[in-house]
Formats: sequence, structure tokens, C-alpha cells
Amino acid sequence: MDTNDKKIIIAIDGYSSSGKSTMAKSLAKAIGYKYVDTGAMYRAVTLYAMRHGMIGANHTVNIPAIEEALHKIDITFTLMPDGTQHTLLNGEDVENLIRQLDLSENVSPVSAIPAVRQNLVRKQQDFGKERGIVMDGRDIGTTVFPDAELKIFVNAPAATRAMRRVKELQEKGVPVSYDKVLANVVSRDRQDETRAESPLRRAEDAVDLDNSNLTLKEQDAILIKLYNDRISC
Ligand code: DC
Repeated sequence: MDTNDKKIIIAIDGYSSSGKSTMAKSLAKAIGYKYVDTGAMYRAVTLYAMRHGMIGANHTVNIPAIEEALHKIDITFTLMPDGTQHTLLNGEDVENLIRQLDLSENVSPVSAIPAVRQNLVRKQQDFGKERGIVMDGRDIGTTVFPDAELKIFVNAPAATRAMRRVKELQEKGVPVSYDKVLANVVSRDRQDETRAESPLRRAEDAVDLDNSNLTLKEQDAILIKLYNDRISC
């Protein structure tokens, strides 16, 4: 049997700041798979739209302008010497810029635009063509790869997730208030769950994982076990 036959697709979905990315990155590294952060792709499109005056006050988005610009937006990932993965927007390293709070406040309306979703879903499906990939997001197990062999749905209470995000931003030297971050997490949850086009939804065949009380080591062990169980089927 070709070794590619054994390569699977692992979809990790869940709410914002639920720790999906940490989980997905760590699993991909342990099993030698590619990792794709789809949230970073929606964030990169949002950055492009903000830079080109397509988002106004109160997060109003100029949908026709964004639709028209999609063909000019190239999103790729690059591995840094320290092993971390950075997002490139038309070749520019935008990894830090796309994590800023002002951008996070604009990303939900941009990611609700059907043409944006269709464009990015196609790119994500291309990334997974050869399988052997861990992808995290909101709709990976439901829309991008409904046939993924392993689907995980991650959750933790909003307050826990907001606290994690504050720590993450502080470590990067970005000053933030906990209340503002919590409000952003709650509002993004609501927008992600209620948008018309592929809303955040748990796939029926997903394994639930609440990681609020798990150490990273425990979390990694659970993931490796789930992966080993799937590939030995
Ligand atoms: O995972 P994140 O917080 O970096 O995601 C940023 C935003 O992108 C989030 O508010 C919802 C959106 N998103 C999405 O709609 N679908 C995905 N597959 C991934 C993210």
C-alpha cells in the first residue's frame, strides 16, 4: 500500500481562542503533517480590506469592493527558523499585524461574506489535496473537508478563552484590557454561529474536547491517541 493511503485529514473546529491552533500545530508537528490555520486566512483578507479602505466605522464592509479584490489576494504560509509558521499576504509577513485587536473586531463581518468564504474554502481544499494535513477553523469538518477522517470540536467557557487571549497578546507586547477581549470573544462567537454561510457548527461525527482543565501535555496525549486510533482502523 502507498504510504499516502495512510495519510488522513484532521479537522479541528471550535470557538475563538479555544486553543485550536496550539492543539493543531502541536499535533501536526508530532505526526509530521502540514498545518493550516484558516483563521489566519480570514484575518489576512480582513487586513487587505482595512488597508484599502474597504471597512468603515462600525465595522461596515464594502462587500462589492472586497469581492472584486479577492483575485488580488494571495495567502501563503512560511516556516520561520524558530519553527513557527507565519502568514504571508502577497508575500509580506503579516503574522503580528493580523493578531491585533482592531483587526479581530473586523474579521467576523468579512468572514461572513459568501464570496470570501467560497474563495478561501477552495484554497483550503487545495492545501489538503494530498492529505496529511491538520487544519483548524470553524467549518473544516462541516464544509471544507466533510470527509475528514478525524474531526475534533474544541470548546471552553468564554471567560477562560478570553483570559488565554489576553495572555497571548501580552506576551507579544500588545496591551489589552480583559473586558474588551471578552466582549470581542463573545461577539465573535455570536457572529460565527449565526452567519448564513457555513456557520460555526459541530460536525455530527466530531469528537468533543473541552480543554479548560487540561495541560498541554495531557491535550497532546489525547490528540495522539485519537490520531493513532484513526489510522489503525
Ligand atoms: O481562529 P481565529 O480567531 O483566528 O479566526 C478569525 C476569524 O475568522 C473568526 O472570527 C471567524 C473566522 N473564521 C471562519 O469564519 N472560518 C474559519 N474556518 C476560520 C475562521
